[in-house]
Formats: sequence, C-alpha cells, structure tokens
Amino acid sequence: MTEKIDRNLSLELLRVTEVAAMAAASLVGRGDKNKADGAAVYAMRAALANVAMNGTVIIGEGEKDQAPMLYIGEKIGNGQPPEVDIAVDPIDGTRLLSQGLPNALAVVAMAERGSLYSAPGIFYMNKIAVGPDAKDVIDIDQSVLWNLQSIAWAKGRDIKELTVAILDRPRHEKLIYEVREAGARIKLLLDGDIAGSIMAARPRTGVDVLMGIGGAPEAVVSACALKCMGGAIQCRQVPRDENERLKALSMGNNDLDKMFTTDDLVRGNSISVSITGITNGELVDGVKYLADEIETHSLVMRSNSGTVREVRAWHRPDKLSLYEAPY
Ligand code: FBP
Repeated sequence: MTEKIDRNLSLELLRVTEVAAMAAASLVGRGDKNKADGAAVYAMRAALANVAMNGTVIIGEGEKDQAPMLYIGEKIGNGQPPEVDIAVDPIDGTRLLSQGLPNALAVVAMAERGSLYSAPGIFYMNKIAVGPDAKDVIDIDQSVLWNLQSIAWAKGRDIKELTVAILDRPRHEKLIYEVREAGARIKLLLDGDIAGSIMAARPRTGVDVLMGIGGAPEAVVSACALKCMGGAIQCRQVPRDENERLKALSMGNNDLDKMFTTDDLVRGNSISVSITGITNGELVDGVKYLADEIETHSLVMRSNSGTVREVRAWHRPDKLSLYEAPY
C-alpha cells in the first residue's frame, strides 16, 4: 500500500467511525444494547461500502450465519485496490452505551491483506499493554510486581504513581490483589479494554498500563492502535474451558501456549485506526447534539507516520439519512 493510498484511507476510516458513533448516540442510556449495536453496524457498513478498497472483515460481528452484517470474511469497500484486512468494533462498550456510562467508542482498524491475527475459536486473551516509554520493558510471563517495577523504572516514576486499568471482573480478583500489594493505583473498567489499552499509550489519560483478560478481537484492534502509537501489547490466548480449547485446536489454532507480541497480532506496517467517542471519556468526548449540528470527537492514527490526529467535526443531521438503519 503506498503512503498516499494509506493516508487517504485513514481519513475515510474517520468518516466510518463518525457515522457509527452518531447512529448509536441516539440510543445512549436507553438500555437496548442490541438496537444500539444494530444501528452502529448498519451505519458503519454503509460508510465502508463507499471506501476505495478491496477489504475483508477479519475481526467483525461474528460468523456469517449469526451476524447479518460485518461478519468475518465479508467483503467490503468498492473492490478497488488496495487489498486490506479490516477489524471493526462498531461499539466497544455496548453496555456502557446502553447505561449512558463513559468510554463507549466506535472503532475501525485497517492493515495490509493477511496481517491481522484472528485467534480462531478463542474468545479471551490475557493482555498487558503500555505506551512507547515502557514498550521494551514488559514481559507477560513475569509477575505483576516485576512488570510494575519495570514500567515505573522506564517512566522514571514510583510504583505508587502508576495507574493500572483492569476490567472489573471476578476473574481479576488475584490480579487486583497483586497490583494493590505492589502499591500501584487501579482504574477499574466496567467494560471497554480497547479504550483501556489506548489510554495506556496516550498522555494525560491517567492510565499507565492495561492488564488482565479481555476479548481476543479487542486485543488485535488494540495492537493496531498501539503499533500506530509506538506502544506495545503482549497477549496469550485463554480458552474458557476444555471445549473451547478443543474447538480452537480443531480450527487449526495451535498457538494456545504462544506469547503474542504486537507484531504477531498485526504483522503489517501500513496500519490505520480511527476511534470516535459515543459517550464522553478520557480519550475522546462523546457525540453532542447542538442547535443544528451534531458534534463528534475522534482520534485517527497511522503507523507509517506515527501521527495521531484529534478531529472534531460538525455534521448536518439532514445529510445523515443514508446511514440510518431502516428499522
Ligand atoms: P462489547 O461492547 O463488544 O460487548 O465489548 C466490551 C468488552 O468490555 C471489551 O472491551 C472486552 O474486551 C470484553 O468486553 C470483555 O469481555 P467480558 O465482558 O466477557 O469480560
């Protein structure tokens, strides 16, 4: 993919997350996760259809028979070169959105064809994610204390000044105990560990590292963003039970013991990621309704340049009907 195509496409991705966020925003706090997800998926798909690319969804809404749109393997774009892999998360934090809580995002990532890992058959990965300053000092196979000491050293700070983002789940009881024992602070996330990973790599979010088990697709999307920002993620697949382990093996996933680095999760070097806030959060503001306009706030990043752009846009509601789901 040439630099020029890559640059143009990253701004196309911005439009895609903007319309998805606006489509979902009218359902904030209304307690209907499925309707919000359907609206965001519909809008995202309509916007992706117009992008000049030959795209295949590698990370999507699930298998074809269970997801009407943006399913894994679905072809998107207008069919012209370049050939790209697409990862979509129309809403990361559907529960956050449905309850009107912070940090619900619309996310799309793109990389060269064949570069995104799909974690066949596996739902969860254990993760550690940091920004550029600590990218060379983490090791998921070491203890929590060892990693926090290393990150503190790399950042020239004390452990007690570090904040660890962790999904608030019973499975993280031991992790939370170990982080507290080490003396670091914790930001518990109700949902949304893509936002948590990106926070770890962005200044002034108050988060230094994300740790713990979250979705495998979210790990790949996070890896795309971290690669663009010069950060790093390390992961290991975590089958939920013996059935899932056997299913993964039957799907040819023989990497259940492998430690995945950022480059294993996204092998390419021409990566673009766009995120748009649906509800307000540490990374971006949520969608706002103004007198005659809708305001969106997004981050767009490209690995080729390493640039992260913050984009605020004002949209005319009467021009958006193309992206509204007809149900
Ligand atoms: P969705 O909004 O797509 O449901 O994902 C929210 C999320 O919190 C992810 O960010 C995270 O990776 C995953 O769910 C964690 O899964 P679980 O809720 O099963 O712990």
